[in-house]
Amino acid sequence: MSRKYVLDPFGEKYAHRTASMLSSEIRDLLEVTARPDIISLAGGLPYTQALDPEVLLRLARRVLSEDFASSLQYGPTDGYAPLKRSLAEVMHAEGSPCLPEDIVITHGAQQGLEIIGKIFINPGDHIITEAPSYVGALNSFLSYQPHIHAIPMDGEGMDVERLRAVLEGLAAAGEPAKFIYTIPNFQNPAGITMSTERRFALLELAEEFDCLVVEDNPYGLLRFEGSPCPTLRSLDESRVVYLGTLSKIFAAGMRIGWVAAPHPILEKVLLAKQSADLCTSSFTQRIAHLYFAEEDWIGQVKQLREIYRERRDAMLEALQEFLGDIAAWTRPQGGLFVWVTLPEYIHTSEMLASAIEAKVAFVPGSGFFPYRGGENCMRLNFSYSDADTLWEGIKRLSRVVKREVSLARAFGLEKSPAPRPPRDPQEED
Ligand SMILES: Cc1ncc(COP(=O)(O)O)c(C=O)c1O
Repeated sequence: MSRKYVLDPFGEKYAHRTASMLSSEIRDLLEVTARPDIISLAGGLPYTQALDPEVLLRLARRVLSEDFASSLQYGPTDGYAPLKRSLAEVMHAEGSPCLPEDIVITHGAQQGLEIIGKIFINPGDHIITEAPSYVGALNSFLSYQPHIHAIPMDGEGMDVERLRAVLEGLAAAGEPAKFIYTIPNFQNPAGITMSTERRFALLELAEEFDCLVVEDNPYGLLRFEGSPCPTLRSLDESRVVYLGTLSKIFAAGMRIGWVAAPHPILEKVLLAKQSADLCTSSFTQRIAHLYFAEEDWIGQVKQLREIYRERRDAMLEALQEFLGDIAAWTRPQGGLFVWVTLPEYIHTSEMLASAIEAKVAFVPGSGFFPYRGGENCMRLNFSYSDADTLWEGIKRLSRVVKREVSLARAFGLEKSPAPRPPRDPQEED
């Protein structure tokens, strides 16, 4: 929907919760960045082109020839049983044992987030996220009107001292936090991975303060460096609600995700899903099942990892070449994103228009904070463009940043210290 209203004639009609829904800068941006002349470092698009179209055509044809009527029919709300078995195997591949009956299939992990908001958050409830955090999760949660406590991260993930302080404060006020939401691997947007030690510490705090943990793990299998850390669910199945998705290891357009959780929670998830959409597409679930049961999906993920590692390297090299003396950035060991911190006097959302004029796009950092923060930061995506395009994109971006720096110098604003990235202890120096 591209038409924007200055005065909404239906303003009186909306429920209060619509006022807390953020307009997504990413969504608005994607409309512009789809222009072919713009190098978009903005989206979170996986590189779907790496899939073999012949494989997908063959699988779609098989589904329609062998299972025509039921693939076009409604299906069970909890998901297509054979696919649930395949998803349990995907979780096994991540070192996270899971039974098919512990899973409800959702319309992408995004639906899982929306359902979690719906079943857990009353207006005024307290929940905890990382700062920054995934904008889609913040939007889903905010529409249920919680207070979000955004806990900063260092190179090892959420700062557990700060987390303890917040949990203690809330407990003392008699308003304990409902859940802690975390993206432990190659976090969107920061690219940071929570260390194993931190995972244990976070779970200990969750137990001490009787708080649920929502583990959102779209990128766990996309590690191209370092050794995997255990999933939070594998460390404590009793209080972790796990969200998985096929979007980043197969195809986002299939819209298949899942929730794995303790059974009482799963029952509520099922009820919420039923009223949201009755079931996930029977057709795409069958294609996905055949793909994971019969094709070399692990080989495909390996190929994606190689492509993404090369692209990450190209982006980091370009950042060093063009912005090395101005910016700081994270060095993700997997996933799709690098988080860049510029000097404090640069506001990336104000800089965006100049960047689009220079034919490059990024996502301003402030969109990843529930209330405020990240104004001098931006998220850059490296999965979707090839190395040469990334190089050119960062070059264009650096010209825009340098112009901001010159302006700040001219106006005497350039006082803040050079930014420092969060350090990951697994990184070599
Ligand atoms: C952290 C995180 N959670 C959830 C999602 C939504 O994924 P899905 O395509 O499965 O709805 C994304 C998508 O980018 C994401 O980055």
